[in-house]
Amino acid sequence: MAFPEAFLEELAARNDIIDVVSGYVSLTKRSGSNQFGLCPFHSEKTPSFSVSSDKQMYYCFGCSKGGGVINFIMEIEGLHFPDAVHFLARRAGMQVPDEGRDDEAVRRRERILRANREAARFFHGMLGEPAGNPAIDYINARGISGEMVKAFGIGAAPDTWSALTDHLAKKGFAADELVTAGLARRSGKTGGIYDAFRGRLVFPIIDVRGNVLGFSGRILGDGEPKYLNTPDTPVFHKSRNLFGIHLAKKSRAGYFLLAEGNIDVVALHQAGFDSAVAPLGTAFTADQARLMHRYKQEVIIAFDADDAGQRAAGKAIDTLEKTGIAVRVLRMAGANDPDEFIKKRGKDAFHNLIEQRETHMEYRLLSLRQGYDFDRDQDRLNYLKEAEGLLAGLNSDVELEVYGRRVAEEAGVSLEALKTGVKKRRTQAKKQSRRKVEQEGTRPSRAMQPGSRELRYTNAYSAMAEQGVLRLLLRDPALYREELELEPEDFSSPFLGRAYGVIRERIRAGKENTPATLSPLFNQEEMGQITRLFTQPENLTDAGRAITDYIAKIQTEKLKQNPEDNLQDIYANYRKTKGVEQDG
Ligand code: UTP
Ligand code: MN
Repeated sequence: MAFPEAFLEELAARNDIIDVVSGYVSLTKRSGSNQFGLCPFHSEKTPSFSVSSDKQMYYCFGCSKGGGVINFIMEIEGLHFPDAVHFLARRAGMQVPDEGRDDEAVRRRERILRANREAARFFHGMLGEPAGNPAIDYINARGISGEMVKAFGIGAAPDTWSALTDHLAKKGFAADELVTAGLARRSGKTGGIYDAFRGRLVFPIIDVRGNVLGFSGRILGDGEPKYLNTPDTPVFHKSRNLFGIHLAKKSRAGYFLLAEGNIDVVALHQAGFDSAVAPLGTAFTADQARLMHRYKQEVIIAFDADDAGQRAAGKAIDTLEKTGIAVRVLRMAGANDPDEFIKKRGKDAFHNLIEQRETHMEYRLLSLRQGYDFDRDQDRLNYLKEAEGLLAGLNSDVELEVYGRRVAEEAGVSLEALKTGVKKRRTQAKKQSRRKVEQEGTRPSRAMQPGSRELRYTNAYSAMAEQGVLRLLLRDPALYREELELEPEDFSSPFLGRAYGVIRERIRAGKENTPATLSPLFNQEEMGQITRLFTQPENLTDAGRAITDYIAKIQTEKLKQNPEDNLQDIYANYRKTKGVEQDG
């Protein structure tokens, strides 16, 4: 099903790319009409994701993803082209012409989100009903304030089999929809459905845009399982979301507090630490780290003080570090988790903890230290070896001085000796990485190569000229003249050749080549390559000359590549121009 081009243009015009991208990425740097942020599609420490308001395009100089607003939505929402179009049409309040077949997935998502929203309202409303009394008692027992109940939309799932499903059926939701949403389950025996959440305190899980993605239900008291979460559904993936992010992203604190439990998050917000979030009962993931890095530059980990919590913290540090966000760690004495700590010692004490937060290096060294008995020489040596490894990872000499001194004093060696060890390790590491760079350097055309195999260029010299032609034609279609006599087959890269064919066809037909109109014609990776052409500078002052130069280059390279074919071509051309009769 093809969307009319005028509609796609209008759709792109009504969904300004800066607005749309800002909903997902915090654009922090500006240069000319470009804004930069951290790429949502790969992990990075410095922004290489650019969005151009002029060109209405995005391009990541790190991972080569790029395109127009439709490509962005396809990529970030994981949607197919038609679904992304519907998504944006809805966003802009536009009617999609020729309502076709393929918006099924989008519509299903919308239905699930709507069912979830209704369910959240229902659960929350139950707190005012007799069926909600046990939950109210539990809320009071845990000391959760009415204000927090409202802010988080906390609710109660009544201890019955069909309260929610009956309610949602009345609202017009089909049994299958509720099962897909994870709100109901199907009985193996009767084939009927029943409420998935029963007799629990329910926390809605809400994304950065305020959608209710799913629920986390805590048992009222003790029992198993303690928490029941919505399974992965078309709208909910627990490894990609964080509990509390919708509130925490608005916090004015410069950091996120990362706790383990939902109850901790609520307790922290209640005490005024409104940037607390928690993973949803899974190991902390890189997706979650990136989600945090979109909004803030620092994360303070406040996991449970028990062994499991500390192990999880160690892993979360590694994951967070890779995104380049600053990581600090809290050490809570005399309490297992933030909730307990605040209840016992008060919010001022917690505030002091934050003030004294440890850098992850302090935290790691201390954790490492705990495993060794310094009265034994072998233990001390082993500790030193491991500590050297950690210290070698520090980027600054000042930091090495500070932490090195501590380690040296503790282990009873001289700072000089320790530093020598650390430097040796650094040199080794450097040698290794230099070797890697050198290996890559032997393939000079690598930097300009697209990521996937199908798009690789076999002749880098020709490909450069081919890209030049495309770049010029995209900038200024008036440069195209039939006399240029360049055919898609002349290109060494099949992909660039095809792109040329498409673009030429459109220029001949007087059609515009914009991201919105090109995006149905190329896949995501190809769009990335095409977008890159737009980001490369091209001098347009003598563009007519430039394009013929590029074409000459392409033709010579082709000749080198395949001399015989070309002789035949030239001969055929010669005959044509001289009016010699064709054979046959
Ligand atoms: P906790 O057991 O620490 O929960 O698990 P909590 O929120 O701090 O609750 P309280 O204070 O003990 O009442 C941490 C998180 O792990 C997930 C939940 O998201 C929980 O908040 N979890 C825990 C599950 O998903 N399932 C479980 O059975 C237990
Ligand atoms: Mn806990």
